[in-house]
Amino acid sequence: MMFAQALDNEFAREVRAGLSRSGQKTLPCRYLYDEIGSTLFEAITHLPEYGLSRADARVIHKHAGTLMTRLPGRLAVAELGSGTGNKTYAILERLRQRQAVTYYPIDVSPSALALCVQCLGPLGQVVPFESSYLEGLRAVAARRAAGETLLVLFLGSTIGNFGPEAALEFLYAVRLCLRPGDALLLGTDLVKPVEQLLAAYDDPTGVTAAFNLNLLGRINRELGADFDLRQFEHVARYDDALQRVEMHLRSRISQSVRISGAETIADFAAGETICTEASHKFRPEQIGGMARAAGFRLAEQWIDCAWPFAENLLTAA
Ligand code: AVJ
Repeated sequence: MMFAQALDNEFAREVRAGLSRSGQKTLPCRYLYDEIGSTLFEAITHLPEYGLSRADARVIHKHAGTLMTRLPGRLAVAELGSGTGNKTYAILERLRQRQAVTYYPIDVSPSALALCVQCLGPLGQVVPFESSYLEGLRAVAARRAAGETLLVLFLGSTIGNFGPEAALEFLYAVRLCLRPGDALLLGTDLVKPVEQLLAAYDDPTGVTAAFNLNLLGRINRELGADFDLRQFEHVARYDDALQRVEMHLRSRISQSVRISGAETIADFAAGETICTEASHKFRPEQIGGMARAAGFRLAEQWIDCAWPFAENLLTAA
């Protein structure tokens, strides 16, 4: 008799659940970032069509000084999804002019944390947490000194990967780790012309396509699946009503794929897609309401006009 086994591996469980549903197939976007995926994402940030990361860095560089004046007193800095920490350098460098720096990068990737320690270690005490965002933030909140203000960084518009409800829920969970007066610096990519968005998520060099297809490669490597990557193609779409770019992988043919590590077979009709990521875009005036609903106040907003992107300083109310 065949029955659904309790799989011990979370990746396997999520792959099976996402690919066996009857409607739109999905895969969680956080699995895009294995060793190859993280390297490809790093390459994406250098593409001329993908202005997001450069805009984020520009706003931070330009306003790091003002940011520091808005947060007087002893400060500790935590970062959700530190990546390699290059944007954070500008912030910690400013802080160092005022006090000894304590920085808590939180990331699930040990290689990202290692890079981060290497890059930012010279600026002060770097205490990495290899964990999920909230688990790490709870650990940081538990060990910080009394009388110290906590500045949490959540850059790069990763918040856009959550839907509106999940984003609120997440911000509220962050708020629960904080005390009044603590702050969250939140990077949000803004709504912009659709051609510009589609070029950013379907670049002519094909790096984003490779980044997306690698998710099937990862399932092959880690779950012993037999996806033929050449039988899928990368698609980027913009949903105007939902204000989001979606990445999909479209099956070129009708096919069945065995995923032995997830004890399942996924059937695809020709043209059927797997949605692998949604990247929400914001209007500047939407941030204040979201902040308030999560127990924060939008204290300040800095916008880059060359590539519409906002850095939002939220303070815990
Ligand atoms: C890292 C989630 C901000 O949504 O723009 C880049 C990921 N996906 N190209 C984004 C991504 C396709 C990126 N974030």
